[in-house]
Amino acid sequence: MKITSQSVLASALLGTSLVSADPLGPCPSGAGGVCYSVGVPPSSASANSGNIYFQIKAPSGFSWVALGTGRSMSGANIFVAYTDGNGNVTVSPRQGRGEVQPQWDQSSTAADLTLLAGSGVASDGSWTANVVCSNCQSWSGGSMSLRGTSAPWIGAWRKGSALATTNKGVSITQHGGGDHTQFTLDLTQATIASDSNPFLTSRETTGGGSGSGSGAGSGGGNGITIGEGGSSRATILAAHGIIGALVMAVLYPLGSLLMPLLGRWWVHAAWQFVSFCLMWVAFGLGVQSAKDSGILFDQAHTILGTVVICLFAVQPVLGFVHHRQYVKIQRRSAVSHAHIWFGRVLIVLGIVNGGLGLQLADERNSLVIAYSVVAGVVMLCYFLAKGFAVLGNKRTSSAGFGGRTYKEAGHGHSYDPSRRQGDNRYA
Ligand code: HEM
Ligand SMILES: *[C@@H]1O[C@H](CO)[C@@H](O)[C@H](O)[C@H]1NC(C)=O
Repeated sequence: MKITSQSVLASALLGTSLVSADPLGPCPSGAGGVCYSVGVPPSSASANSGNIYFQIKAPSGFSWVALGTGRSMSGANIFVAYTDGNGNVTVSPRQGRGEVQPQWDQSSTAADLTLLAGSGVASDGSWTANVVCSNCQSWSGGSMSLRGTSAPWIGAWRKGSALATTNKGVSITQHGGGDHTQFTLDLTQATIASDSNPFLTSRETTGGGSGSGSGAGSGGGNGITIGEGGSSRATILAAHGIIGALVMAVLYPLGSLLMPLLGRWWVHAAWQFVSFCLMWVAFGLGVQSAKDSGILFDQAHTILGTVVICLFAVQPVLGFVHHRQYVKIQRRSAVSHAHIWFGRVLIVLGIVNGGLGLQLADERNSLVIAYSVVAGVVMLCYFLAKGFAVLGNKRTSSAGFGGRTYKEAGHGHSYDPSRRQGDNRYA
C-alpha cells in the first residue's frame, strides 16, 4: 500500500476517527469544570451489546454529578455519582421518571455499573468516577445503539457539600434550572483500543479525546454535539411561556377592556379571537414541552392549564350568543353575564396558571416579578377603567344622554348598557 501525503493529511485531519483510541465526551459550558467521557470497545460496538466505559469528573464543591442515556430525564438510564466519604466515589444507577428525583434502580434490569481503578477523591477535593457498564445498550425506559452516530445523553450537576455516603439510594437535591445538559455522541468516534479501562492513560485528565477537553462546551466536527434537541426543546418551552403569558396577562384583559372602552363588539370579538388562537398555539407548544419532559398532565400547571384552556372554548360561543340575543332584545341576558363573568374568572385563573408555570420551570425571580407586575398592572387598568366606566354611566345616564356607550352593531349607533337609552335603530 502506498502511503500518500494526502492519506497522511487526511488521517491527521480526521484524527480520532481513523486512529480512534480515545473516549469521547464534553465538559459542558457553565458546569464549572464537570467533564463526561464515554468509550466503547470495538467488540461491544460490533455486537451492539456489552461493556461500555464512562467517566464523570467533578471539581471540588459538587454534591453530585450525573450522566445518563436518553433525550430527557423521563425514560433515561441515569448514573448519579458522589463521594463515598472514604476517599472514593459511589455510583448509583437510577431510572428517570420525568423531572423528579430519579430513584435508585434495584431491579434486575438496572444498569450494571462497576467502579474502576483511577476512581477516587483527589487531595484538592476533585473526584473522578471511572465506570464500566455491562448492559447499557438497553434499560427499562429505552435503548441505545452502541454504534450510534448521534447517541443521546444527558447530564446534570449540583453544587454543594459532598454527600459522602456509600448509600446508593441517598436522596439528592434537585439541580438548578440551568444545571443540566443534553448532547449527542458519535459513538463510532468513541471507540477505544480494547475492552479495558480506557481512563488510566494520561488522556484521562483532558476529559476525553478529540480536543474536547478544553471544556469549550461547543461541539461540532469531533463527534460531540451539545444541546442538540435540547436547544429546540428550550425554544419550544420559551415560546410556550412567552405566548401564553402574553395571551393571559395582556391580550385577553386588553381585549376585554376594549369592549366597554370602544363599545364595538366586532373589535372585541376580533381581538379576542386572535388571542384565542394564540392561546391554542401556546397550549400546543406546552403539550409538546410536557411530553418531552414526561410531565404531561401530572403537575398543577399542566392540569389547571388544560382545564382553563378547554373552558375558554365556550367563551366565543357565549359572546356570540349574547350578541345575537342583544340584537333581538336590546338588553343583557343571562348569557351576557355568563360571558362577562366566566371570561373574567378564566382570565384570572389563566394568569395564576402562568405563575404556576414559571414555578414549574424553576424560572429566575426577576422573570416571576416581571410577570406578576405586568399582569397586576394590566388587571388594575382593567378594573380601574371598568370602575370609571360604571361611574361614567351612572352620571351620564342620570343626565339622560351621552357618556360611555356601547355600539353593539358596530355601525355607529350607540346604546347604553344600563338599558336606559336603548337605540331602536340598532339592527
Ligand atoms: C376567548 C374569547 C373571549 C373572551 C376571553 C372574552 C372576554 C370578555 C370579557 C371579560 C367581557 C367583559 C368586558 C367588560 O368588563 O365589560 C366581554 C364582554 C363582551 N364580549 Fe367577549 N370575550 C371573548 C370572545 C367574544 C366573542 C367572540 C364575542 C362576539 C361574538 C364577544 C362579545 C362580547 C360582548 C358583546 C361583550 C359585552 C357584553 C356586555 O357588556 O353587555 N366576546 N368579553
Ligand atoms: C475506588 O474503588 C475502585 C473500585 O474498587 C478502586 O479500583 C480504586 O482504586 C478506588 N480508589 C481509591 C482512591 O481507593
